[in-house]
Amino acid sequence: MEIIILPTAEKAARLASLLIADQIEAKPYSVLGLATGRTMERLYAQLARMHRDEGLDFSKCRTFNLDEYVGLEPEDPHSYRSYMNEHLFNNINIDLDSTHLPNGMAQDYKREAARYERMIAESGGIDLQLLGIGKSGHIGFNEPLSALLSRTREKGLTQTTIDQNSPLFDPPEKMPRRAFTMGIGTILDSRRIIMMVTGAEKADILAKAVEGPVTSMISATALQLHASVVVIADEDASAKLEGTEYYHWLYANEPEWRKYHQLL
Ligand code: GLP
Repeated sequence: MEIIILPTAEKAARLASLLIADQIEAKPYSVLGLATGRTMERLYAQLARMHRDEGLDFSKCRTFNLDEYVGLEPEDPHSYRSYMNEHLFNNINIDLDSTHLPNGMAQDYKREAARYERMIAESGGIDLQLLGIGKSGHIGFNEPLSALLSRTREKGLTQTTIDQNSPLFDPPEKMPRRAFTMGIGTILDSRRIIMMVTGAEKADILAKAVEGPVTSMISATALQLHASVVVIADEDASAKLEGTEYYHWLYANEPEWRKYHQLL
């Protein structure tokens, strides 16, 4: 795992966008794993700008989102499909037929989960998976006690997650209590993972996720088992990390990161 700490959330989003652009340029037919949440909004705005101003070409990409609320129509303004269309897909040149989220309206949960897993496998697997982190330590909607090898399934949400996300619903009680989510095992199958973490309210959980012991109580700790993870944090989110000095040194000195220094 590499941890890169940048002064602002804007710079964190900028670095993530450059890594995604490099991925797409190296492999135009990339399969991207996408995430939702407030943290991603800056990143998607950057990608939209890079498409508009620099011709970043998404036309051959396919995407799979981590999760979707159970019981919301895709057209519902609170659905993750609506979020993705608004913040990214409508602003870039991707074919909407190549963008996938679980179907929140599926009645047979097991069947829908198996269908989603199959589609990911048939696409050749996810090249680059983007992640945020919930205050409960979840990635996707893998709430505490999710098996570290879990696959896509329907999951009940914790009160912490309901408290975190319900203010985005109008009224807040409209927030579903269940969601489909890729499993932790599904996420770990991705070839490369970028987790973006910004804001002081994530400082505690980020420290536990990357420096604490691996535990199914904090699903993000499973990322410690993956061979290619980059965590990009802003200064506020990194406040509780113990190894900051070392992480800064690595980012300043590893040849891999040199080209990004002047682009930020
Ligand atoms: C939701 C999503 C997660 C996301 C989390 C963080 O719960 N299921 O994938 O990481 O929100 O959201 P935010 O970026 O708004 O803090």
